[in-house]
Amino acid sequence: MTISSSDMKHSAVIILMLNTFSAFSESALYGQFLGHCQFSSNDGHDAVYLEQYYFNKMLLAQYNSTLGKMVGYTKKAMKVADTLNKNQEFVTHEKWKTRLCKENSQLLYKGLLNSVEPYVRLRSVKAASSTHPAMLICSVYNFYPKQIKVTWLRDGKEVTSDVTSTEELSNGNWLYQIHSHLEYTPRFGEKITCRVEHASLTKPKFYDWEPVPDPGTQKITIGIVGLLLGLVFLVAGLIYYKKKSAVRVMVPTTEL
Ligand SMILES: *[C@@H]1O[C@H](CO)[C@@H](O)[C@H](O)[C@H]1NC(C)=O
Repeated sequence: MTISSSDMKHSAVIILMLNTFSAFSESALYGQFLGHCQFSSNDGHDAVYLEQYYFNKMLLAQYNSTLGKMVGYTKKAMKVADTLNKNQEFVTHEKWKTRLCKENSQLLYKGLLNSVEPYVRLRSVKAASSTHPAMLICSVYNFYPKQIKVTWLRDGKEVTSDVTSTEELSNGNWLYQIHSHLEYTPRFGEKITCRVEHASLTKPKFYDWEPVPDPGTQKITIGIVGLLLGLVFLVAGLIYYKKKSAVRVMVPTTEL
């Protein structure tokens, strides 16, 4: 049997869907046969085809394309698996489905996952060198493809000095992350921005650094709030005192 590769791609989708087959009966017997295609690379080269046979939710046998054979998990299933593994037609058919699985993975990734938008986090850390007291890290996570541009802006102007960056690090799956560092001496009222350019974005994305007020300023703020609160209580107390003394004056008059 010869099948052109384009035919295969069309039939592949159908086969993978038909692969899930269930049977019910009134006596609560439940048989199920599931075909899985598992992969984590973007080109499908590591795709594994698994075909699992269940009866009453118990896994009886499984075909695993890495092993290239059916494995039984009960005595009877082992016998059946053994027979099937010796059957050339069965073996060829499973190999064919494995190929479809690999090709489909590639198609899916290219068609659905052209690019994946990153998640960006901006944070401040203690500077590593003594030239500048502050350092910002712009961490860009989970993007695809690998190509990316991360730059720093101070008041809208690109900064190139005192910028270091990691490589595009692989997450171990097909996604990447990168971390860019900016060492700087803070200037009052300036705006620092991390700019990310990537294929998943129609235009560059900007992430502004919002500095947390330093502990000194925070203490002053807390002090002022405390002072105001004290004043409010003082005024309330004075009013209460005045009212109470007014009532006290009235008490004797009503007794008379
Ligand atoms: C398939 O077989 C490979 C190789 O033995 C194994 O590493 C993998 O875990 C198996 N997959 C499953 C789902 O059993």
